[in-house]
Amino acid sequence: MGNKDKAKERREKRLQDIRLQRTIPYSDHQRWWSKETVAVVTGGNRGIGFEICRQLATHGLTVILTSRDSSAGVESVKALQEGGLSVVYHQLDIVDNSSINQFVEWLQENYGGLDILVNNAGVNFNLGSDNSVENARKVIETNYYGTKSMTEAIIPLMKPSVVGARIVNVSSRLGRLNGRRNRISHVALREQLSDVESLSEELIDRTLSTFLQQVEDGTWTTGGWPQVYTDYSVSKLAVNAYTRLMARKLSERPEGQKIYINCYCPGWVKTALTGYAGNNTVEEGADTGVWLALLSDQTFIGKFFAERREINF
Ligand SMILES: NC(=O)c1ccc[n+]([C@@H]2O[C@H](COP(=O)([O-])OP(=O)(O)OC[C@H]3O[C@@H](n4cnc5c(N)ncnc54)[C@H](OP(=O)(O)O)[C@@H]3O)[C@@H](O)[C@H]2O)c1
Repeated sequence: MGNKDKAKERREKRLQDIRLQRTIPYSDHQRWWSKETVAVVTGGNRGIGFEICRQLATHGLTVILTSRDSSAGVESVKALQEGGLSVVYHQLDIVDNSSINQFVEWLQENYGGLDILVNNAGVNFNLGSDNSVENARKVIETNYYGTKSMTEAIIPLMKPSVVGARIVNVSSRLGRLNGRRNRISHVALREQLSDVESLSEELIDRTLSTFLQQVEDGTWTTGGWPQVYTDYSVSKLAVNAYTRLMARKLSERPEGQKIYINCYCPGWVKTALTGYAGNNTVEEGADTGVWLALLSDQTFIGKFFAERREINF
């Protein structure tokens, strides 16, 4: 058996283990949440986001399913409510500041805040062997700046608690800094982005604007950017860097007001974003995000996960 087949076998075994773990109910001492625990999911109308909503609500939390398109979101909520789940709808477009502000106001007024934020909304315009950067600006604006705007707007609303509030960013292994086949080839930049102490919003912004400038003037192909799904990979690299940067900032919060922020890769999932060409089901894709959101003894902050295990950035 070749290395590729062995890796495939290991992955399948790991997924099987997780499938089994998902069937084991949380015990009473693990269940720190109740129906009053509020989880907000962005891009919840379909794909992994919808499944995250379904799994969290099945565990007994109150879920606020949000979507940029109201009619799609309302339909999705209806499907979950018909299954007896506690899911509520609100419109939210993560690249529209007025939509974010209206949502935050509504959340504060109706729920007094939240316990869990899942930054799931995202876009990708590359399929198969494409590597077009035609939509690079939109990809960066949504995947990175949208996630950042949401996080900044929501942090003041996160409820203080003994177990800590949680932010889960749905990211991708494509955004790994040290991926073997898909990484920034500029060593100094990679080192700067790797070192959590030298990470800053300015560094991330500068990296993204250099990339977008090169897209505009057509020089990006020789810019040393990730080789596969370049714009999407750069956007997720920024999400990963931001997760670590925010973890550093949030770790200064006192006991009782902790916010644990982490990110994860759902694997290659059969959703619209991959043209339904992935290996994993949405149940598998949502699993690690839900697991992270519900961990009873949160000790992770600023880490990257896949298949319920920590992986390297
Ligand atoms: N599928 C994979 O293999 C894979 C792998 C790694 C990471 N991910 C990540 O997983 C997340 C979910 O993706 P998916 O695979 O479930 O794709 P999907 O089915 O295309 O879902 C993406 C969701 O994001 C929403 N969205 C896009 N832009 C938005 C905006 N400005 N404001 C609010 N919502 C917005 C979409 O809304 P509309 O319905 O209105 O378009 C949709 O609900 C993304 O962050 C993606 O990058 C996916």
